[in-house]
Amino acid sequence: MKKIGRIMTCAALGVVALGGIAAAHGTGEHGGMSHDPQMQKLHAMMPMFSESSAQLETALAKGDQAAADHEAGRILAAIPDLKKSRPHRNVKLKKGFVKLAGQLGEQTTQVRDLARKGEFPAARAAFQKLEATCGECHEKYR
Ligand code: HEC
Repeated sequence: MKKIGRIMTCAALGVVALGGIAAAHGTGEHGGMSHDPQMQKLHAMMPMFSESSAQLETALAKGDQAAADHEAGRILAAIPDLKKSRPHRNVKLKKGFVKLAGQLGEQTTQVRDLARKGEFPAARAAFQKLEATCGECHEKYR
């Protein structure tokens, strides 16, 4: 189910490759984007961020500790790859990109830890900040 959602999102964007297969995807299929495996990686990764953060928000609203833990874990697991990936715009400002990726990681950890303690109002407030980081990075690098 989740996997299908991700595939559909990617297909809609014209991306056939997922995750590590990205490099085998070939080049030049959509406007030069796929020339760079690190850009492909980012493109393939973002639908998961979108899906996981939506499910994390739902879990926090419901006070569902297990689900919150699971979704935060998925985001956290992808942070190292996010740091290594390459944005399309402002490629020269890579330092800022890595910093924002790190910030997303810290905020996700915060949300997860608050949810683990059952402090859901605080976790929801921390989630707002997490989402602001998504927006901050998109404003600059998407
Ligand atoms: C460190 C920078 C950064 C962070 C943090 C970040 N994104 Fe992105 N995001 C990007 C870039 C760059 C693109 C454009 C990628 C592309 O076009 O291939 C993008 C694209 C997207 C897309 C469009 C799909 C796509 O592949 O173009 C979605 C949806 C998305 N991000 C969701 C999120 C969500 C939700 C979060 C926070 C949980 C988030 N992103 C955090 C950099 C970031």
